[in-house]
Amino acid sequence: MMQIGRIYSVLRATGMALLATTASAAALAPRAEAGQDWASLEILTTAADAQVQTVLDGKEAYIAGSPRGLTRAVRQLVTPFVWPNSTHYHDETLLPHIEEMLAVLTKVQHCDGTYTVGNYHSPPDTGFLIEDFGIMVRILEEDDHEDSQVFADTIRAILRKAAPGLAKGGIHTPNHRWKVCAALARISRITDDESLIERIDEWLAEGIDIDADGIYSERSGIYYAAVSNPSLLTVARELNRTELLEPVRKNLELSIEHAEPNCEIETVLSRRQDQNQYRSDNMGEFYPQFRELALRDGNGRFAAMARLLESRVPERLGDYLANLIEQPELAKELSAPEEPFVDFQKHYPTVSLVRVRNDKLTVSAFGGTDWYHKGEKTDFYNRFGSGLSTNPSFFRAWNGDLVLEGIRMSANFFSMGHFRSNGIEFDSETGVAKLGNEMEVQYYLPMPADQRNENGTYDLSRSIDGRFYASLDFENRPASVRRLKTDVKIVPTDAGYDLEFEVTGEKDVDITLEVTFRKGGEFSGVEPSVDGEGNTIYHLKEGEGQYTNGKDTIAFGPGNGDGVVNPDAGEQYSWHNGNLVLEGHHVYVTGTTPMKYTLNLGFS
Ligand SMILES: *[C@@H]1O[C@H](CO)[C@@H](O)[C@H](O)[C@H]1NC(C)=O
Ligand SMILES: *[C@@H]1O[C@H](CO)[C@@H](O)[C@H](O)[C@H]1NC(C)=O
Ligand SMILES: *[C@@H]1O[C@H](CO)[C@@H](O)[C@H](O)[C@H]1NC(C)=O
Repeated sequence: MMQIGRIYSVLRATGMALLATTASAAALAPRAEAGQDWASLEILTTAADAQVQTVLDGKEAYIAGSPRGLTRAVRQLVTPFVWPNSTHYHDETLLPHIEEMLAVLTKVQHCDGTYTVGNYHSPPDTGFLIEDFGIMVRILEEDDHEDSQVFADTIRAILRKAAPGLAKGGIHTPNHRWKVCAALARISRITDDESLIERIDEWLAEGIDIDADGIYSERSGIYYAAVSNPSLLTVARELNRTELLEPVRKNLELSIEHAEPNCEIETVLSRRQDQNQYRSDNMGEFYPQFRELALRDGNGRFAAMARLLESRVPERLGDYLANLIEQPELAKELSAPEEPFVDFQKHYPTVSLVRVRNDKLTVSAFGGTDWYHKGEKTDFYNRFGSGLSTNPSFFRAWNGDLVLEGIRMSANFFSMGHFRSNGIEFDSETGVAKLGNEMEVQYYLPMPADQRNENGTYDLSRSIDGRFYASLDFENRPASVRRLKTDVKIVPTDAGYDLEFEVTGEKDVDITLEVTFRKGGEFSGVEPSVDGEGNTIYHLKEGEGQYTNGKDTIAFGPGNGDGVVNPDAGEQYSWHNGNLVLEGHHVYVTGTTPMKYTLNLGFS
């Protein structure tokens, strides 16, 4: 609390210094030198101020909507209200709105202290609200407007009521454990309730789910920033558990390796909803974490990432003003930036990912979906589902302003869908990466005599290849097998990379290679055509094509003749009338097994 007082006095002193006489300015100089980061505070203040009208305009919808959104909206009013540098500082027209919204939040809190946010009586979702409430209490407590104390009391009562539900309740996903710990840590400190620490310790004793490279078990770039990192930092701060800074530090280093200068974090490996969220500027939520560890460690690369986010997505950083008010040490001047995007090549073995950066070109090769899951207790095969990594893109590239969004391959082999590699091998000497799999599809033979059922009823079971179900007791039935083997060698060349494909086994299988480019460039050397659904596609039948934006070009080819373009996502998608299509421009190269084909990619 002392610290918040300090930043206010520094801020006020800094402001006053501009108007003051030389003598008093000199007297204030040592405090001004404490080094508040005005460049950042100005960006955050502008963004936070811009949110106020949006909240007021949307108030009814917030009130009718999820309590999580409503709590964030209250925070978006409270923050400028307590911030002397905001145009809404102590703007009393905001008071009835804050009061009304807090009254709704008080009313919809269940007797067990939780909220329903899509999930009924959800401890983890309540955790998200607690983070906002916790920050609000802290910044309201330090504010000298009398209504601020009233709001702080209201929120403290919500926090007190939330404690038992969070201390007893359960979770759904790995990151929820840390979210609940963060919420309990905040409530414990704010309401002086030591009893909550026991539950925090119970969750933490499970161990943090992070590998040696800094990848959390959900492999989800967007969730690292949105949940795991901020939650662990909160517990570290509130309970002085400094050992929890280490996983966050490791993850931030990792996130730079997985990031691009357009503030896009690689999500191809993700087990969460972001596995298909390829887009620039998806890293905004990392801002306070890069800032905090940049300041704690004097880490110039983290400082540079915070600066990069300020320049790319300033309008999305408004919510973090509250963090800097709550923790004035976060508002200190960042250390000198150091280039974060350096050349490197690295193999991440637990997720079967290779990343290589060389000047303006970065490539990812990926062979680590859960399609072939080998667990300690559970093996499964050919499954799609929430919480599994299933993205079939196995090669991606960022070349300056151009993005090769993904290369995928699909064989029309029993509707088994896209090729997904069973791991990756990487030779760091030659830079060659190898992907591959062997698919087996069964034909089931008659039931052995001793397994027959007199009534003709057999267990409803899942086919061995994972595609379908039937009352045929597949597990206990002999089968014959058809096979298809795919090998992909990714070889660095002077121009870029060669992707050498070899598909053998079943003969006359149609193969479709799908090369998808993010929009923004222009094609040459390929002719557009229209597919069955009326989309413009490119079928490269011969020669080479180019995709260009300004001075950046990606050359691809050669074509591989006429063939059937059929990028089939497989029966598990088609059964639900689903499909799996990457956003962007699609170039197809076709072939038929046995197929030996090399795709040359040139980057300039
Ligand atoms: C903060 O407020 C003071 C006093 O009004 C002003 O001098 C200063 O420039 C402001 N800083 C920012 C970043 O807006
Ligand atoms: C915080 O923990 C560290 C050890 O991790 C210890 O040195 C320090 O004194 C603790 N600080 C407080 C305020 O308890
Ligand atoms: C076959 O059906 C009969 C009559 O419903 C039942 O009594 C019997 O247990 C069944 N046999 C098997 C092997 O399920």
